[in-house]
Amino acid sequence: MARLEGRIAVVTGAGRGIGAEIAKLMAREGAKVVVNDLGGATDGTGAGSIAEQVAEEIRTAGGEAVSNTESVAEVSGGESLLATAIDAFGGMDILINNAGILRDRTIFKMEESDWDAVMAVHLKGHYCCSRPFAAYIRDNNRTNCRIVNFSSVSGLFGNFGQANYGAAKAGIAGFSRVLALELAKYGCTVNTISPGALTRMTIPLREARGEEVAAHELDASGPQHVAPIVAWLCTDEAASVSSQILHTASGSIGIMQQPAIIRSFKKSTGTWSLEELDRYVPELLKAKQSHDAAVKEAGASQTID
Ligand SMILES: NC(=O)c1ccc[n+]([C@@H]2O[C@H](COP(=O)([O-])OP(=O)(O)OC[C@H]3O[C@@H](n4cnc5c(N)ncnc54)[C@H](O)[C@@H]3O)[C@@H](O)[C@H]2O)c1
Repeated sequence: MARLEGRIAVVTGAGRGIGAEIAKLMAREGAKVVVNDLGGATDGTGAGSIAEQVAEEIRTAGGEAVSNTESVAEVSGGESLLATAIDAFGGMDILINNAGILRDRTIFKMEESDWDAVMAVHLKGHYCCSRPFAAYIRDNNRTNCRIVNFSSVSGLFGNFGQANYGAAKAGIAGFSRVLALELAKYGCTVNTISPGALTRMTIPLREARGEEVAAHELDASGPQHVAPIVAWLCTDEAASVSSQILHTASGSIGIMQQPAIIRSFKKSTGTWSLEELDRYVPELLKAKQSHDAAVKEAGASQTID
């Protein structure tokens, strides 16, 4: 039985890559889908009509879909997603905040425009699309809704040359934790994906290192592997899963740790002297090192046949 029958989903940046795979899988699982995509270049410049191509593909396969070409970086674009879903299908249950761009530069070369463009699409884009949906959920007592946000190891671990993107992606993880708290009483879950997939966003990075991407690698590490994790988070079976970060790449699924205090000390009176910190900060670093080693061991993927 289709697992998303009757649900109405908006997928941003769904004209290609991970978003297109999510939109198509959700439609196969019975969801009515708004396929959003501005259709521009990887750096966010330009526009195109690729959203309609994916919507058409879904309809040809027997599913229900309409397209929307507004930018998620504008408040009006976010509002238009909700309006499109209501006009076409009569409501909205699921928001997948997947749209994204890259403007990779080291901090020495990063212009204000590179910083602003990446922040606008990723971090502000999550706000622009989530806010109208959250208000709609509250004002209409719409229960059992889902928001899935897109972070990255770039922000969660750190990655050279991506201060703008990493900051936005770390911000999205924080945004998701707050939204999960604020929307819990309406029965809406909010989770975050940390994906890895060969798409137009990542293939050029491989090619720049002189590595060709073979067809079998697209089978093993393509965006189709991310889609089931996102779709599952939108099923009834995931109703109690919220505020989590799931990592998925090349067919793996893992759960990320969230920021937590690993070890701490407190003085009974007074402020820390620098000499006391000489002694206790190394204790903290030692605790962190053994925690990291234990997490690394526990996090190694177990192969399932
Ligand atoms: N591919 C990976 O390995 C990887 C790793 C970490 C995070 N991510 C994240 O996953 C998401 C999907 O990435 P992808 O690899 O499929 O990239 P992609 O470039 O193939 O797809 C992103 C889509 O977003 C659209 N888009 C960009 N700006 C938009 C805007 N303002 N409004 C509407 N649509 C817009 C683009 O036109 C594009 O079709 C992104 O948020 C990305 O940052 C991807």
